[in-house]
Amino acid sequence: MKVTVIGAGNVGASTAYVLAQRGIATEIVLTDILAGVPQGKALDMCQSGAVEGYDTRIIGTNSYADTKNSDVIVMTAGKPRKPGMSREDLLAVNIEIVKDAVGQAAKMSPNAFMIVVSNPLDAMCYGALKISGFKPNRVCGMAGILDTARFKAFIAMELGVSMKDMSAIVLGGHGDTMVPCPRLASIGGVPLTSLVSKERIDAMVERTRNGGAEIVKLLGTSAWYAPAAAAVQMVESYVLDQKRVLPCAGWLQGEYGLRDVYMGVPVVIGRGGVEKIIEIPLSDEEKAMFKASADKVRATAAETKL
Ligand code: LAC
Repeated sequence: MKVTVIGAGNVGASTAYVLAQRGIATEIVLTDILAGVPQGKALDMCQSGAVEGYDTRIIGTNSYADTKNSDVIVMTAGKPRKPGMSREDLLAVNIEIVKDAVGQAAKMSPNAFMIVVSNPLDAMCYGALKISGFKPNRVCGMAGILDTARFKAFIAMELGVSMKDMSAIVLGGHGDTMVPCPRLASIGGVPLTSLVSKERIDAMVERTRNGGAEIVKLLGTSAWYAPAAAAVQMVESYVLDQKRVLPCAGWLQGEYGLRDVYMGVPVVIGRGGVEKIIEIPLSDEEKAMFKASADKVRATAAETKL
């Protein structure tokens, strides 16, 4: 299994490193336009294998020729947010990066499964789909796992319980309009709504919606550990054909009453890529939020002019 990670910044390098530690890829190619950076980071990760006990071949490169015949492409390249910016503010600069990087990578690995991480996520998925010419089941976005991880972390902090026994989901676009679904959250089978008041749940939902911005404000740039872990979970489900049900950006074709738009929904990921999109029966309130989120995603995707 050969995995290419495009972008050797914080998210890309962390993705490559977590992947190496998991031992699920035989070869990892880290590519970036910056000379020396992917090479240096790849060398460092190789040497870490001597301590940690992995033998994964890790290559850093500035040439897409080295990515040839990858099984998975993880697209992380693009500018991150600075304090005060929305993800949508990145569209103009990042769509040019997606056009170039995805175009080159797709040519080298026409049968790959592509995981998009660059922001604004849902619009970049749309761009990657159009540029690559891949079938929609081969282009999927990482966001729902991250947003759900944040929701779970805030629930755990609020209740003082482990995240391990939690089940939760955040639907919709990866932006201010995302749709956390407290109704569907449970801890060890106990519904969240039976454990805390609506006011406290509303506060957790709000903090989840602003989860990315909270970190940008603290760090001056966007998050990388949880985004990388989430991307690796998708790679793993594909490579090992786990058929996990994960919240990811999938291309809707009539599901949830919507068509031709990427939205965060539960998808099944296996060796067939996105093998299935699962429809959850939504309440009227959730439906309205989901629809509003889709309208926003659609408007941003239209700005790509693709
Ligand atoms: C975030 C960025 C990666 O949510 O979108 O942290």
